[in-house]
Amino acid sequence: MDSWEWNKIFGAILGTLIFVLVVKFAADAYFEPTPPAKPGYVVQGVPEEQTASTPTAPVEEPLPDFGSVLPTADLAAGKEISHRCEQCHDLSKGGPNKIGPNLWGVVGRDRATHPGFDYSSAMVGDHNPWTFGELFRFLKSPQAYVPGTKMTFAGLRSAQDRIDLLAYLRTQSDNPLPIPPKGATATETAAKPADKK
Ligand code: HEC
Repeated sequence: MDSWEWNKIFGAILGTLIFVLVVKFAADAYFEPTPPAKPGYVVQGVPEEQTASTPTAPVEEPLPDFGSVLPTADLAAGKEISHRCEQCHDLSKGGPNKIGPNLWGVVGRDRATHPGFDYSSAMVGDHNPWTFGELFRFLKSPQAYVPGTKMTFAGLRSAQDRIDLLAYLRTQSDNPLPIPPKGATATETAAKPADKK
């Protein structure tokens, strides 16, 4: 092949490339994308907090008004839920400590004070009484509420489940903690502002 032949071959290749580029430019110009009026990824009806980041961060949940919700709670449902605790806790009067301490009378009991149980240092960090509010928050996510606790229970997400359970646990006592008057929960929260960091 002499150089003339090569020139023809290169010319043909170059011509093809130029043709492809021209077609591409024309197509881009013709089909120029226009931004959609609405972004397509907004899912209607999904609250923003669900799509936001850090889904594992415990969200500060308002306390229910125990004076209103406890008297109407479903004790049978609460008892049913308490079976999940029995995997680690004995609930009966004078019962033994198991993986966790005996829970007879735990509602109103001072934290980490049940005799004979070897609490984690996280749990003995304070001995405030287990009020309805404390238990409500603790049982949602034990490890988030008492970081370092050895209670390896994921928690009860549903507020109603926790209310039913607390109403039942309250009855498992020689001396049930009185149900606070309606509207009193706000006082409990306000009374202990430095409670949780
Ligand atoms: C997998 C085992 C396990 C399960 C299930 C479990 N717990 Fe516990 N719980 C523990 C352990 C262990 C401790 C002691 C925690 C520590 O010392 O950090 C504890 C501690 C507690 C305390 C603190 C008691 C005190 O004397 O201060 C409460 C209240 C409690 N659990 C309630 C419950 C309830 C209610 C349920 C059911 C919804 C439940 N736990 C399910 C293991 C468990």
